[in-house]
Amino acid sequence: MALKNTKAAYGSGAKFFHWLIALFIIGMLAMGFIMHEMDASPLKFKVYNWHKSIGFLVIWLVALRLAWRLFNAQPDMLSKKAWEVRLAKVTHFLLYAGIFLMPMSGWLMSSADTYPDPLVYGIDLPQIIEPDKGIKSLFSAIHFYTAWSLVGLISLHFAGALKHHFVEKDRTLLRMLPFTKD
Ligand code: HEM
Repeated sequence: MALKNTKAAYGSGAKFFHWLIALFIIGMLAMGFIMHEMDASPLKFKVYNWHKSIGFLVIWLVALRLAWRLFNAQPDMLSKKAWEVRLAKVTHFLLYAGIFLMPMSGWLMSSADTYPDPLVYGIDLPQIIEPDKGIKSLFSAIHFYTAWSLVGLISLHFAGALKHHFVEKDRTLLRMLPFTKD
């Protein structure tokens, strides 16, 4: 399988980023909702630390993914229905915005807080803004609403993939799976 996309098929690079980031985002959504409900304890503090540490890596993965997307051909959509193509394009754009905004808002929220954030791999989370309660609350709200928007967008995206596979019976889902050729 080629590394890069063609106008008809996804390459291994795009598939790698798609599934790796999907795993991270879905895992981090579950982790975030669960940890938010935990009672204060040393374990909760540890889980928050892992959440911040993984999330900080996700920012760089997403940046690489966006660069890969910009410098690669995009396979043509298989649907012939204009509304479906438009809906898919809007959903994909919002998904990209969401996977970027999610970890960025977490980073900004934690920076605006006064707690130190030692990451599990031995560096402190770089503080990119001055501590400020109002800004912390703003990014905390953005983190929360983006999380729920992503739950909705991922569900719509998943439903679209299943519709293509089981109703239209085209190769939309198959061509994004890891070991298929086109
Ligand atoms: C991969 C991207 C990320 C996802 C999908 C994600 C998801 C979530 C979710 C679902 C929550 C629970 C929201 C709530 O119920 O209030 C949460 C909370 C939180 N996240 Fe993230 N997060 C990500 C990245 C980050 C990053 C990079 C940081 C910081 C460096 C971070 C810091 C936090 C903190 C501190 C909370 C707790 C907020 C609170 O309890 O008020 N997150 N996250």
